[in-house]
Amino acid sequence: MYRRCWQAAALATPSLLAGCAGPQSALDPAGPSASAIAGIWWGLFWMALAVWLLVTVLLLAGLRRRRHLSEAGARRMIVAGGLVLPTGVLLGLLVHGTLASDRVTGRSADASHLVAVTGRQWHWDFVYLGDDGRPLAASTDLLAMPLGRMVEFRIESADVIHSFWIPRLGGKIDAIPGRTNVLRLQADQAGPIRGQCAEFCGLEHAFMGFEVLVLAPGEYEAWLRDNAVARAGEGSP
Ligand code: CUA
Repeated sequence: MYRRCWQAAALATPSLLAGCAGPQSALDPAGPSASAIAGIWWGLFWMALAVWLLVTVLLLAGLRRRRHLSEAGARRMIVAGGLVLPTGVLLGLLVHGTLASDRVTGRSADASHLVAVTGRQWHWDFVYLGDDGRPLAASTDLLAMPLGRMVEFRIESADVIHSFWIPRLGGKIDAIPGRTNVLRLQADQAGPIRGQCAEFCGLEHAFMGFEVLVLAPGEYEAWLRDNAVARAGEGSP
């Protein structure tokens, strides 16, 4: 019986782990921000597993035990398991999460490229800005990113609240009408990477996704030229 359970678990494990990969998996990080998030996720997972195992072992030991604990022994268990353990675990997670949050938002990173993002019912518009803030290129539902370079996204909405999320690159941030939210992300792998609106925004919400095209820096510059927008006063090429 036990053997069958172990065999079933051994067979199921690869398919369970395969669910961790894919173009839209936060557990398959392709950049520093997503790596920090995946690190927090695994830290929480292993800590929760350890606490669960500890509680299970103590419960089984308690059920098997014939005689009761002395009053002092019971008090020690309550102090250790009810005060010291949760305080230590929560404090550890708080410190780890706070330290990792800087990497998650990219707040102190220097961005070398700038992209204005606008969420609309139901697609994403991307405008690639030059150093002077003028638009260089534009695309819809396709986001080009230079490999290994930090990109600053300035995220807005033209209608309702959307949420800009590229799980393999980092956390999500809301696109709110009348407000600009900033997120810095870097892609260290070529893909496949996919983004998705993560806030219900109407009937087509589920289809409000986009592909991320990660290009070597030279190819990225060429891509910007191929997708250039005509600047006012310069006419079309
Ligand atoms: Cu936009 Cu959901």
